[in-house]
Amino acid sequence: MSEAPPITQLADQAAYAAAVQLAVDAAAAYYGDGESTLDDDAYDRLVRGIEAYEAEHPEDVLPDSPTGKVAGGAVVGDVPHTVPMLSLDNVFGAEQLADWVAGLERRLGRGVESWSVEPKLDGLAVSARYRRGRLVQLVTRGDGTAGEDVSHAIGTVLGLPGRLAEPVTVEMRGEVMMTAAQFEEACAKRQGHDGTTFANPRSAAAGTLRAKDRPYVCELTFFGYGALPLDGTPDELAGRLRELPHSQIMELVAKLGVRTAAATPVPGIVATGVEAIQARVGEIAAARATLDIGIDGIVIKADSAADQAEAGFSSRAPRWAIAYKLPPVEKITTLLSVEWGVGRTGIIAPRAVLEPVELDGSTVTYATLHNPADITRRGLMLGDKVSVYKAGDVIPRVEAPVVHLRTGDEKPIVYPDKCPACGGEIDTSQERWRCVQGRACQALPSISYAVGRDQLDIEGLGDNRIVQMLAAGFITDFADLFTLTREQVLSLERMGEVSTDNLLAAIEQAKGRPLSRVFAALGVRGTGRSMSRRIARHFGTMEEIRAAGSDGVQEVEGVGPEKATLLVAELAELSDLIDKLVAAGVNMTEPGGAQRVVVTQEEGEESDRAVGPLDGMSVVVTGAMSGPLEQLSRNEVNELVERAGGKSSSGVSARTSLLVAGEKAGSKRTKAEQLGVRIVTPEEFAEMVHDLLPD
Ligand code: IVH
Repeated sequence: MSEAPPITQLADQAAYAAAVQLAVDAAAAYYGDGESTLDDDAYDRLVRGIEAYEAEHPEDVLPDSPTGKVAGGAVVGDVPHTVPMLSLDNVFGAEQLADWVAGLERRLGRGVESWSVEPKLDGLAVSARYRRGRLVQLVTRGDGTAGEDVSHAIGTVLGLPGRLAEPVTVEMRGEVMMTAAQFEEACAKRQGHDGTTFANPRSAAAGTLRAKDRPYVCELTFFGYGALPLDGTPDELAGRLRELPHSQIMELVAKLGVRTAAATPVPGIVATGVEAIQARVGEIAAARATLDIGIDGIVIKADSAADQAEAGFSSRAPRWAIAYKLPPVEKITTLLSVEWGVGRTGIIAPRAVLEPVELDGSTVTYATLHNPADITRRGLMLGDKVSVYKAGDVIPRVEAPVVHLRTGDEKPIVYPDKCPACGGEIDTSQERWRCVQGRACQALPSISYAVGRDQLDIEGLGDNRIVQMLAAGFITDFADLFTLTREQVLSLERMGEVSTDNLLAAIEQAKGRPLSRVFAALGVRGTGRSMSRRIARHFGTMEEIRAAGSDGVQEVEGVGPEKATLLVAELAELSDLIDKLVAAGVNMTEPGGAQRVVVTQEEGEESDRAVGPLDGMSVVVTGAMSGPLEQLSRNEVNELVERAGGKSSSGVSARTSLLVAGEKAGSKRTKAEQLGVRIVTPEEFAEMVHDLLPD
């Protein structure tokens, strides 16, 4: 479990004053725009150093020291809170937790019978005011006594319904955050808008909550952790909110329609005794890396209203609750170098090479840097101390340089002036740089991908052969494979009659692959194998796909406006290649034809799907396949799911109907178990789809 971070030693009054200023600035940034200047770990170390200095030198204590403040944040906004929005004190391990429990029980003069143990959600504290069941106002924490009115965000926050299940007046308190999927989508939207992304889900949520006039809208999620009476709350409800144990208040909040931790794989529980608390802390900590929301600890609260009332509050935090902090998911490390890679489509993407750092259970050595403009905007230099964020499924990201830690030895990052793959020119007109040769720059990887097992599946065509064919000028793209002559293939080194005929037969066979695979072979940016299958099934023919336009492709599940724009642009760019494939006689239809479903008012929403044994089920496949599925690639198993009428998906959620778990299934299995999702072995699954298995 996590240990208390070592404290920052402060030698004298000047060091103390500087430390207070640094902490005040960091807290203001954290509670203001969410862009922290110190990681959590460094902040905790600093505050503990300040506390230690103040204990020795009480005469020096500065008025704005973070140790005396409510939330340590900047005063933002002018909507007074009905009851101050306080902070929580922290513990960093089992021993400190046991001490805290003992301390509270001593203060009360009795044992605490039951404790609520909940995840500590890493978002922004918000109060949501409901009047007669209608959501009328959203206010940030601000400085704890007054916050900023962010009611403009009403309607974009999942978990905070516009109307409660009952027409009551009440204030909900909780955390606004972004799930991993909401974060990725928000980053894609911002990238499409101005070429930048958000550093982490927390700052994305903070920026989004406060943004008033963004041309794009990002979705947020709220999780409640408390409810309070307001002026106008019916006496009966006000009484219950004052008298019920916390755990029952949370049940009431959920019944009224507001999302709580109960909707996550780590719901709050009631525990008796330190051991039971510690066991739940261990469970939540273990599940952390599999969650699609960020948590930075576990909150332990005396459950009963009487215990809470008697324990009371200190100036900044309740005495009846404590935050058990988990190791940070954001840390400072050194940016060692920047590598420039070239993708299949010619995009030149920078990636940060870092001094390895332990984050959220894994060692991070590389992190995304997005694009050159983003590097320039962040002002990064080689040798910089940078904050790096990684949590759950989110790809590690470099947030920002810690400018005050610069030594003067940092060096500028050198941008490539020619394509690192082919040495050709770079098109720098867009934020994302691209080799002017586009896909041709990456002819070998593009062709190799197209003929791969999950695309055209041309047996016997390895990279060596492709290199020979490119060098001989027989091919420039994979469409040229279909017009190769026998003489050309025979003329290649180490190519005999038999292998030539086998290769040509394999190529001929590939002409008949279903459209989903031909489409996947194109390597359209923004689409993978499963999206290719969805597109092919929806339209049925390549002609229909090409004619669909942006509105048309948005009918496909998972294609939003931005992906649609990209798709249409990609198809235009690939137009010559597609024409060549058509001319060569490559199949451009999906077996079974288009399964586009016309949505009628009466039927409600329908998705495009076949009917079969997995009809309407959402299926996730993980781990090593065995038995009849052993020889199938992951893509082939997913194809099987879809042929059987199911929807294949990569992540386990409450909506998952079935998990096919092979050996070494790992975190997806754990998550499915927590959510109560049905789990089957590959052999059991093979039984379910028996009639559809390939011979
Ligand atoms: S209870 C009187 N419960 O963490 C304060 N807070 O670092 C009661 N937080 O200010 C807060 N998850 O914004 C509570 N399950 C949870 C929480 C939670 C996240 C936030 C909250 C609080 C901050 C303290």
